Amino acid sequence: GPGRPKPAPRPTFRSVLPNNDDKVTIPNGYEQHVVVRWGDPVLPGAPEFDVENQTAEAQAQQFGYNCDYVGLHQLDENRGLLWVNHEYTNENLMFRGYRNGASATPEQIRIAMAAHGGSIVEVERVGRTGQWRLSTGERRYNRRITTDTPFTLTGPAAGHDLLKTEEDPTGTTVRGMLNNCAGGYTPWGTFLSGEENFNQYFGNAPASPEYARYGLSTGASGRRWDRVEERFDLSRHPHEVNRFGWIVETDPLDPSAPPAKRTMLGRFKHEGATVRLAEDGRAVAYMGDDERFDYIYKFVSAKKFREGDTRHNLTLLDTGTLFVARLTGNSPEEEIDGSGALPADGEFDGYGDWIPLASDTTSFVDGFSVAEVLVHTRLAADAAGATKMDRPEDIEASPATGKVYVALTNNTAREPGQADEPNPRGPNKHGHILEIIEHNGDAAAEAFAWTVPLVCGNPEDEDTYYAGYDKSKVMPISSPDNVTFDSDGNLWISTDGQPGTLGINDGLHVMPVEGRFRGELKTFATVPVDAEACGPFITKDDKTVFLAPQHPGEDGTFEAPTSVWPDGDFPRPSVVCIWHKGGRAVGR
Ligand code: FEO
Ligand code: CA
Ligand code: CA
Ligand code: CA
Repeated sequence: GPGRPKPAPRPTFRSVLPNNDDKVTIPNGYEQHVVVRWGDPVLPGAPEFDVENQTAEAQAQQFGYNCDYVGLHQLDENRGLLWVNHEYTNENLMFRGYRNGASATPEQIRIAMAAHGGSIVEVERVGRTGQWRLSTGERRYNRRITTDTPFTLTGPAAGHDLLKTEEDPTGTTVRGMLNNCAGGYTPWGTFLSGEENFNQYFGNAPASPEYARYGLSTGASGRRWDRVEERFDLSRHPHEVNRFGWIVETDPLDPSAPPAKRTMLGRFKHEGATVRLAEDGRAVAYMGDDERFDYIYKFVSAKKFREGDTRHNLTLLDTGTLFVARLTGNSPEEEIDGSGALPADGEFDGYGDWIPLASDTTSFVDGFSVAEVLVHTRLAADAAGATKMDRPEDIEASPATGKVYVALTNNTAREPGQADEPNPRGPNKHGHILEIIEHNGDAAAEAFAWTVPLVCGNPEDEDTYYAGYDKSKVMPISSPDNVTFDSDGNLWISTDGQPGTLGINDGLHVMPVEGRFRGELKTFATVPVDAEACGPFITKDDKTVFLAPQHPGEDGTFEAPTSVWPDGDFPRPSVVCIWHKGGRAVGR
């Protein structure tokens, strides 16, 4: 009937076959181009890359390491600003003879610090194709964000005692962002980026439940950044780590403005954040905390989006309410045995509610102030009775239907007896996808229905489920990490873990989630040896998908690399674009 979403066109490309090739493999009829690589000059006057003679000063002007989230802010049809997260560094691949943080030279540590953060590079379309390349003209918006870049802390926890340090007695400014994994592009044209495993950079944490819950070690860190900057030693600067673990917002059109850490969105191992607007104009952000048995969060703004008013829209993430998800199955508990066998009603599904943790003025968790909820969010969510999930990663709403998709990457620590309907396998080696349908389709709703459309693995195995689709016609998938959509609402899923679980390279898959082909999962691309597949980002004209093979050759060394992608000499984390030769929408 009218108002019913029409099924998306079925992807017609022929799947890339599982492989272990040291390259990006794409379907017939497509082309690819390496847009930007580790070490490429970003800032005007940046030196050319010299891997054997790298310096921190050069690295701070060049494209950083391990590309994760990729987003494109288009200036017009043919020019854009590409945002890329640099999640972390693989020193074993960056430096000859590298052993560990304790024996690293101070300059090696400083290079690694400068290779973290993010980059903004101006890009341009080649002709009228779906190919994009580094801009050959002006690059006024190009920017490097590193461990030394000033950030502001905003929102209700900014200025709280828990955020004050010797270096920043106001608790409102921080140097650097750490371990930025996934992210999102907001309706008002900014980039969000999640600080994920920030705990690994700090050592000598006080022995307390607050530090332990975030995985902070009471011993030395592996990276030993405290050898170069004392703030990474928590025995001397215990609050420094409270200034990491946030969602960062950056306005690409204002290169001189410090990016902002939005405390209202809580502090945890943020995979990323994606925003959509509720019907009344409030901004709604979905967020995962990527840890075994951690939670799914949602933020609803107090104020409404105003078209064209960037100054106003840049305040949307500072006031509102932070929620955490509780999911309840609708099948009897005894029918969920951890094997992945479907319950009698034929689906892993049920209902759920968003439990409010705090607004900008009121805490809803006994024993926690607003600032304590926001700084120690994991502990507040524990107290609120949230549902322990199998590593919630990227979350995004379909632009076609408003349904929300969550990548739950895996959880090998879940015992069979700990399986529940939203996390139906114990152990969960391959992960699954959760679909959330907000009550009445309202993004700001406090109740929802949910189902599990995809239980990942080798389709020949009984414990996999492809939305009931014929499993002889689908591809294997394991460890879903990032999700995005084309404008028809097909779900694109990239993976992080297939080499370890399936013995094949990671990849980028496409699956219709509406209509009779729901569940027909195909493989669009695979990434080089030992890389995980990051991005992906599809341009608004559907002509291009950006894909970031992160950490190619991760299991090798500088002297003996397992990957030499992309140039045939040594591995360089890079961003590629993929487009159809005939100008078709990607995947269709
Ligand atoms: Fe950095 Fe959760 O992946
Ligand atoms: Ca059920
Ligand atoms: Ca990720
Ligand atoms: Ca991951």
